[in-house]
Amino acid sequence: MPPLPLIIDTDTGSDDAVALLLAAASGLGDVRAVTTVAGNVPLETGTRNALISLEMARRTDIPVHPGCARPMARPLSSAQHVHGEDGMGDIGLPDPGRLPESGHAIDVLLAAPRERPGELTLVTLAPLTNIAAALLRDPELLTRYRHVYCMAGAADLRGNVAPTAEFNVWADPEAARIVAQAATPDKVTWIGWDVSRKDAVMTPADQRHLEEIGTPLATFAHRINRTVADSVRDVTGLPGYDLPDPVAMAVALRPGLVTEAERAYVEIAVGDEARGQMIIDRRVCAPAPNLTLVRRVDASGFKRLLFDTVAAPDAPAPDAPAPLSPLPGNSR
Ligand code: BDR
Ligand code: CA
Repeated sequence: MPPLPLIIDTDTGSDDAVALLLAAASGLGDVRAVTTVAGNVPLETGTRNALISLEMARRTDIPVHPGCARPMARPLSSAQHVHGEDGMGDIGLPDPGRLPESGHAIDVLLAAPRERPGELTLVTLAPLTNIAAALLRDPELLTRYRHVYCMAGAADLRGNVAPTAEFNVWADPEAARIVAQAATPDKVTWIGWDVSRKDAVMTPADQRHLEEIGTPLATFAHRINRTVADSVRDVTGLPGYDLPDPVAMAVALRPGLVTEAERAYVEIAVGDEARGQMIIDRRVCAPAPNLTLVRRVDASGFKRLLFDTVAAPDAPAPDAPAPLSPLPGNSR
């Protein structure tokens, strides 16, 4: 299979960084552009982290475009208490060697699939602000992608940031609602935090394995999750740190990892008490499904993909994928 042409939207914190490694260094993805948004960390910090992660993957040819600096209708509530003040476990990573592009993320998200209709896969690892803002300009946007995979929601209503809500949806529920309302299950798949909690937990044995692999990528992938490990102990009680964005990326790169999925009609709660909760209508009389929800993946297959990717002694050199036409100000 040729590598999958990808656009990735991210609020790069520590697990986004691991997802970027999977996309850029596994050989399964052909990353055409990365767009960033405020979420885990403020926009500028997440953009810095995306640049660092691509540098680790030796893919400094991939453009990084900053997008929206705050949710559509609310102030930003970041997750720096989880991912660290710098979003990368506060391990003192040096600044990246390049700057982001000046073209806005929304312009990239709109223009890229128009240039290559039906060819690009969009993977979102963050609050859906950029995507919703792009949808306001082009209501057909989602249909222009080959498929859209979102790390979003908690289909079993067991939340991480709130009792029943997952961070990406909770952080910008208005945006998530716009995306869900524009979606169809053939085009849009959500991989929720329930999948991460069940099938993407790095247990102490997995963490030891990453340390033993000992390559720069393995060490990076493990150490940047240092503060997440602390937070998991105090908040969710999982037996290790979980990797929501990497498992969503793995599903996009290797859909055969999915072992259980459902199609359902989903709305997003925006009121204060249930902010960001998925309202899933599984009645026979429910409206037609709008989303495909992944519910389980092959956990050992996911971990094998991760270990194999970070075990590569040196990430593949840039193979000059066909670049997108330059956008205004794309060459800073
Ligand atoms: C999601 O929120 C962030 O903390 C992670 O990067 C992931 O996108 C999990 O709820
Ligand atoms: Ca994220």
